[in-house]
Amino acid sequence: MTHTLPQLGYEYNALEPFIDEQTMRVHHTKHHQAYVDKLNAALQNFPDIQGKTAEELVTNLKSLPKEVQEAVENHGGGHVNHSFFWQILKKDVQQAGAVVDAITKKFKSVDKFKEQFTAKALNRFGSGWAWLVLSKGKLKIVSTANQESPLTKGQTPLLGIDVWEHAYYKKYEWRRAEYVAAFFSVVNWEKVNEHFEKAKAQHTPTPAPAAPKQ
Ligand SMILES: [Fe+2]
Repeated sequence: MTHTLPQLGYEYNALEPFIDEQTMRVHHTKHHQAYVDKLNAALQNFPDIQGKTAEELVTNLKSLPKEVQEAVENHGGGHVNHSFFWQILKKDVQQAGAVVDAITKKFKSVDKFKEQFTAKALNRFGSGWAWLVLSKGKLKIVSTANQESPLTKGQTPLLGIDVWEHAYYKKYEWRRAEYVAAFFSVVNWEKVNEHFEKAKAQHTPTPAPAAPKQ
């Protein structure tokens, strides 16, 4: 398969003034497109894994041929992380749902969760991401460097913020903290909830079928 750039599903100015139109346009059409192109280029000599989705590739990174692992981590991860990121952005979505209940239970309050998530995003040295993931059935705030995906560590991302400078520098310059604060105004909690419900269902072991009676 040839990997392609997904549509955003909304206009480049839809997240104004929190994330500006110019940043969204360049981020999507230049940065994300470059990850897609470089992933396709990296896979050219590996026909056996060309049929896999980008998610499958990064989830099973360590089982891929050694020569292609770094390129898949960077460009496959870049593709997967950005495709995920566009989906969890939307203005004016009410902070509600099972995931918000679970966040409140785990972190005492949504505000406390935001504090810890913000600290993780601000402490990411250089480029990378901060995430809320489901890890072994539990909510956890983690950070990954560069374009590493939580999927490679067996974690399911529910919410994530891109803290590469390309994600915020045009509007916020060096003020990453302002960008992270603005990000919370454009979280699509409905989508985060969808990820949560799906991840929980996958984690819940299905009961073994009853043994047939003799
Ligand atoms: Fe990015």
